[in-house]
Order: sequence, then structure tokens, then C-alpha cells
Amino acid sequence: MIKIKTSEEINKMRQTGKLAAQLLDYLEPFVKAGTTTQKLNDLAVKFTEDHGAISAPLNYYDYPKSICTSINNVVCHGIPTSDDVLKNGDIVNIDVTVILDEYYGDNSRTFMIGDVKPEVRQLVERTKTAMELGIKAIAPGEYLYEVGRAIEEYIQPFGYGIVEAYCGHGIGKEFHEDPHVMHKYSLDNKIVLKPGMIFTVEPMINLGKSGGVVTSEEDGWTVTTIDGSASAQFEHTVLVTKTGYEILTQS
Ligand code: MF3
Ligand code: CO
Ligand code: CO
Repeated sequence: MIKIKTSEEINKMRQTGKLAAQLLDYLEPFVKAGTTTQKLNDLAVKFTEDHGAISAPLNYYDYPKSICTSINNVVCHGIPTSDDVLKNGDIVNIDVTVILDEYYGDNSRTFMIGDVKPEVRQLVERTKTAMELGIKAIAPGEYLYEVGRAIEEYIQPFGYGIVEAYCGHGIGKEFHEDPHVMHKYSLDNKIVLKPGMIFTVEPMINLGKSGGVVTSEEDGWTVTTIDGSASAQFEHTVLVTKTGYEILTQS
């Protein structure tokens, strides 16, 4: 069941979405060579608390930290640790989800540290464009599958792998609500968009041909590419409006 948010709920989700984006803005200057992902986690915890909000990931299905930090070949759900030191040439996706006044906001960006290889830099830039094109396909009366179709049409010619195991999702008073938002064309997403729906668009794109992923048996969370190639991701929380869409995770 896809929830249609009331205008009161939408106002709350504008606030929480804004805070999630502000958190990423706040972290950005610390995302540089020499910083540990644990440090980013701790900065995020402090910022979130100082703004009267809660970090959603901590204890979510026993997830052990407050943000996800996914470096290079890590696709998503990378766990911050004091052993992971960012270095020149790395890319890192920072995925933050905050709860403010009971409502969730989910936002991620992939950052580049120093001299990133041109092919990896291009992957990051194109993944951001893919998310933007997916979002631009959102309008009331359109099918949800237009999001995945736009992303796939843009990405396919580059020969990258689109991850299918993880999808965008409805979001509101819960972290993950209906619907699943596919990042490829799929009839599973033959769902008519209506004003008041809120969901994320968060494509994960692998530099290698395969969109296949492996989940760590050791920690049960860290998702990596099958072929060791780099993976990038961007995520926004988006509202369907009467005329199109509104990105809620904007600072
Ligand atoms: N923020 C992720 C998403 O975009 C979910 C992370 S779940 C966690 O849906 F437990 F790893 F935090
Ligand atoms: Co999400
Ligand atoms: Co997220």
C-alpha cells in the first residue's frame, strides 16, 4: 500500500529532508584524505543530535553505526570504522537518514577524494546525472517505471552495470515503505504516480558490466561489486506534486 502524505506530513518531510541535505553539506569538508569513516560517523551523530533529530540507521535491523560509508568497490551499506582511512583517489558514498518529528529523510552523495581516475570520475558524474534524469521522469499520472526507464536508457550505452538487488523506496513515518523503486524499466513498477507520494530515487551504478553484488558474510551488511569494480550512488527523497516533483532532500 502506497501512502499518500497529507500537506502536514509533507511539511514535516520538507524539514527532515532539508536536515539530511544539510548534514551532507556539513560533512563535505571533512571528506578528504586522512579522515576515517568513523570520524564522519561521529560528526554526523553530533550534528543530528544538535538539530533535535535521530540517526535512522543505528540499530535498524541491527545495523551498528549511524551512517553508511561505501568506499570504491563497496556498493552500499559500508560500515564506518576507525580502520578505514580515506585516501587520495578514493570515492566514497555517504548515505544519511535522519528522523525529525517522526518523519524520515534519506539522502546520499558520492564524494571524490583528490585525483580520482578519469573513468571513475566519469562514473560518479554519470551516476548523478542518472539519478537526476530518473527524478525528472516523475509526474502525476505517469507510471513509476518511467524513473527506471530514464536511468536505464541513459546508463546502458556506457556499458555499466545497474544494481538491481537494491532499490529506491517509499519513505515517511517508516524508513522503507512501498513502493520498491526500480532503477531499470520494470513492469513491477506499473504504478500510477499520484500527488502526495514520497519515495527515494537512488541508483547504484557499477563501472563493470555486471550489476551483480555480494553481501559480506563477515558483517552481514557490506555490499560489494562482484568484479571488484568501483560503484557510485546518489540518492534523493522526492515528492510527487500536482505538476511534477519536488526534491525534499535539498539544503
Ligand atoms: N539509507 C539506505 C537507503 O537508502 C538504507 C540503509 S539501511 C542501514 O535505503 F541499516 F544500512 F542503514
Ligand atoms: Co534510501
Ligand atoms: Co539512503
